[in-house]
Amino acid sequence: MGRLQDKVCLITGAAGGQGQVAVDIFLKEGARVLASDRDASGRDALAASLARHPDRLHYVAADVTRSADLDTIVAAAVERFGRIDVLFNNHGAMVGSPILETTEAELDLVLNVNVRASFLLAQKVARQMVAQGGGGSIIHNSSVGGLVGFPDMAAYGASKAGVAQLARSMANDLRQWGIRVNAVAPGAIDTPMPHKYLQKFPNRDEIWRAMEQAHLVGRLGRPEEVIWLVVFLASDEASFMNGAVVTVDGGYSAV
Ligand SMILES: NC(=O)c1ccc[n+]([C@@H]2O[C@H](COP(=O)([O-])OP(=O)(O)OC[C@H]3O[C@@H](n4cnc5c(N)ncnc54)[C@H](O)[C@@H]3O)[C@@H](O)[C@H]2O)c1
Repeated sequence: MGRLQDKVCLITGAAGGQGQVAVDIFLKEGARVLASDRDASGRDALAASLARHPDRLHYVAADVTRSADLDTIVAAAVERFGRIDVLFNNHGAMVGSPILETTEAELDLVLNVNVRASFLLAQKVARQMVAQGGGGSIIHNSSVGGLVGFPDMAAYGASKAGVAQLARSMANDLRQWGIRVNAVAPGAIDTPMPHKYLQKFPNRDEIWRAMEQAHLVGRLGRPEEVIWLVVFLASDEASFMNGAVVTVDGGYSAV
C-alpha cells in the first residue's frame, strides 16, 4: 500500500522540475494522477510515466491564467477518475527584477499565475470536494521568498506571500468540510527556474555559489526533497496538519 493509494491527485506545473518528480513519486505511492501544464509539450516531458502508467496517469494541457482552462482540468480529473482527493497547486512563474525596473506586465504575470490561478483552481477543486461529500487535501507551492525578503524579488515574493496566505485562509473556510489546506515554502531548488533566472548574469557561477552558501546545508535543494513533504501533507498521516506553511529550505530562513 502506497501512502497515497488510490487517491486522485491533481498536479499543476507537472512538466516542470518539481512537477515531474511529483508525478513520479505520487504514482509510486499508488495515486491516480491528473497532471497538467501549460501546453502540449508537457505530455512529452511525462511520456515515460504516461507509457508506464496509462491507467493511472492522464495529462491535460491548460494555461492556469485562463479560468476556462481551470474548469477543463477539474472536469478531466472527474471524468477520468470520478473524484478529486488532492490538489498540488505547483505551477509558478518567477520574475527576478529590481523594484525600480519591474514592469506592470511582470507584476501581472506573477500575480496572475501564482496567486489568482492558485486561488481559482483551489476554489474549483474545493467545490468538487464538497460535492463529493467533503474531505481532501490542498497543497500550495509557496516559497521561502514569500516569507523573507530576497533582493530583486518584490513581485515574486509578494505573490508567494499571497500563496502562503491562501493556505491559512482557505483552511479556515474549508474546515467544515474536512478539507485541509497547507503550503510548502521551499528554499532554492535545482530546477529550470533558478537556471533561467541566472541566465542574464555574467557572474552566474558566483551567484550560484552564494545561493548555495545561503542555505545552512550548503547547497540548493533537490525536487524530491520538497515532494516528500508534499506527499506527507497529501496523505492521511498528515491529518493534524492544517493551515500550515512549512519551510523546506535547507535552513535558509533559520539564519
Ligand atoms: N525552483 C525554486 O528555486 C523554487 C523555490 C521555491 C518555490 N518554487 C516554486 O515551486 C513551483 C515549481 O517550480 P519549479 O522549481 O519546478 O520550476 P519550473 O519552472 O521547472 O516549473 C514551473 C512550472 O509551472 C508551469 N507554468 C508556468 N506558468 C503556467 C501557466 N500560465 N499555466 C500552466 N502552467 C504554468 C511551467 O510551465 C512549469 O512547468 C513553482 O510554484 C515555484 O514558484 C520554486
